[in-house]
Amino acid sequence: MTKGVNEMAKITASVYTSHVPAIGAALDLGKSHEPYWQPVFKGYEYSKQWLQENRPDVIILVFNDHATAFSLDMIPTFAIGCAESFAPADEGWGPRPVPVVQGHPELAAHIAQSVIQQDFDLTIVNKMDVDHGLTVPLSLLCGQPQAWPCPVIPFAVNVVQYPVPSGRRCFMLGQAIRRAVESFDQPLKVQIWGTGGMSHQLQGPRAGLINKEFDTAFLDRLIADPEGLSNMPHIDYVREAGSEGIELVMWLIARGAMADVAGGEPPTVKHRFYHVPASNTAVGHLILENAD
Ligand code: DHB
Ligand code: FE
Repeated sequence: MTKGVNEMAKITASVYTSHVPAIGAALDLGKSHEPYWQPVFKGYEYSKQWLQENRPDVIILVFNDHATAFSLDMIPTFAIGCAESFAPADEGWGPRPVPVVQGHPELAAHIAQSVIQQDFDLTIVNKMDVDHGLTVPLSLLCGQPQAWPCPVIPFAVNVVQYPVPSGRRCFMLGQAIRRAVESFDQPLKVQIWGTGGMSHQLQGPRAGLINKEFDTAFLDRLIADPEGLSNMPHIDYVREAGSEGIELVMWLIARGAMADVAGGEPPTVKHRFYHVPASNTAVGHLILENAD
């Protein structure tokens, strides 16, 4: 007998946020109330409350590793964390004092099976430390808890070493992840988070680049025209949003997993926030909720 819709997993919401490492350091070192950081953390107050009230059973957290777990020795384009747990990485100053991330090996293995059979090549990762790309978004939405509120499946995307995947491919991958989640026969509420961005460039003559106009248009289009946005070529990200602005393609994975892309209702915009500066980066943040 096939199980009813109510007994299957579903994507309830997507969250989008920058992952600036200095935000993690500000929190860890007790500087979040300083005038420079206060407006950044204020933009996440609603989100922390929202997450407590809309606690998922699992988060699929799309992020990029910054040559921490991977290196030039091995560059997976898409990699899914299937381990029981993932320790915070040492990025040069010792590991961040944050909880170990508990995985969800059963759902992760199911997503790997389903998405690979939908013709996306995923690297299966059974051992990995997670860097600021994953831990800073969790800190922003969860604060400083003893344990993260639910299991997290790390989903790593190469946006560091060229060639990087296109926005189009990321958007299609999100759709495949949605189909995978909906074919998992446990009634789990699953959120998908897309992280990185917004405009920033860390090196070269254009270091410090911020493009508020581009970022604002990106947020508008991510909400209302994700399909059109997914056709933007990667060179436009680099030209307009800086060399590290390419991290934004990861937001299209989360957006592709939302119901409207598969013919359902448009999502509700629960929260939108934009602030400059945080370190070298424009901070952007969105919460989109699916209808029941
Ligand atoms: C900064 C931002 C990033 O996304 C990153 O990975 C490293 C540094 C920054 O703004 O300093
Ligand atoms: Fe980054």
